[in-house]
Amino acid sequence: MAAEERGWQVVLVSMNATSNAAVQAWGEQLPGVASASLEGDGTPLVEVLDELAGVDASPGAGPEGRASTSGRAPLGSSGVGIRLIGCQPGGGATSVSWLRRVAGHWLRTRRDGAPAVVLQVRHERHDGVEPPDAGPLRGPVAVASAPGESPRDGSASGTRWDPISGDEAPLHSPAWQAPPPFRRHLLVCCGVRCNAQGSREVVESMVRTAKELGVVHDEVLITRTLCLFPCNQAPVVVSYPDNQWRGGVTPAQAAEIVRRAVE
Ligand code: FES
Repeated sequence: MAAEERGWQVVLVSMNATSNAAVQAWGEQLPGVASASLEGDGTPLVEVLDELAGVDASPGAGPEGRASTSGRAPLGSSGVGIRLIGCQPGGGATSVSWLRRVAGHWLRTRRDGAPAVVLQVRHERHDGVEPPDAGPLRGPVAVASAPGESPRDGSASGTRWDPISGDEAPLHSPAWQAPPPFRRHLLVCCGVRCNAQGSREVVESMVRTAKELGVVHDEVLITRTLCLFPCNQAPVVVSYPDNQWRGGVTPAQAAEIVRRAVE
């Protein structure tokens, strides 16, 4: 197949909740580049794709699409593709499979309402604070595509892009049907005030301790929340079903809370 010229809308996708703020800031720095989130705060990826493709996914909406709310022209009707860069500032273990699953879910569920949209993904881990170099990816880029060869961009490194077909693994699985058999559900407030006063370190300490004890997601279920209201006592941790509320929790105390939860 001959090389094709295609204009691409680039979307930086935050791969986890702790990356959302950094990735959103990158999107705002780079003209013409959108940002989206897979989890937590930020605009969900499916909403950004709806907007770019001009799809109205609201209940009862017809297939005619909707006007863009950001002023950005919908892309799908002009045959322009969308490239999703899964971004993970600081690295980490999140798999690109989640980005592929969500993009595939969007393609499957919007197929009747969306014009032909070409979706591609790639995954980047960043140890520094710099955004990925999205500049060369905007506007028309030559995409060489031959049988058995993955599409590559026009850069010297020929970055590999994986196409999204709609046949990706679904968002549901028998393994995700029932709640885990936890003894304690620990809620860590990551609202504005708690976040500013150490809740990230508290979460990291709890998860590290639970992993050391071999009880993560099992006997102990750790969940980050938004504001739980007693903000003056930040950072706040709540334990259920014993209904214990603790404030001013340090990382060392957080580790102890996990240890006591499994005694
Ligand atoms: S921000 Fe944590 S309790 Fe309000």
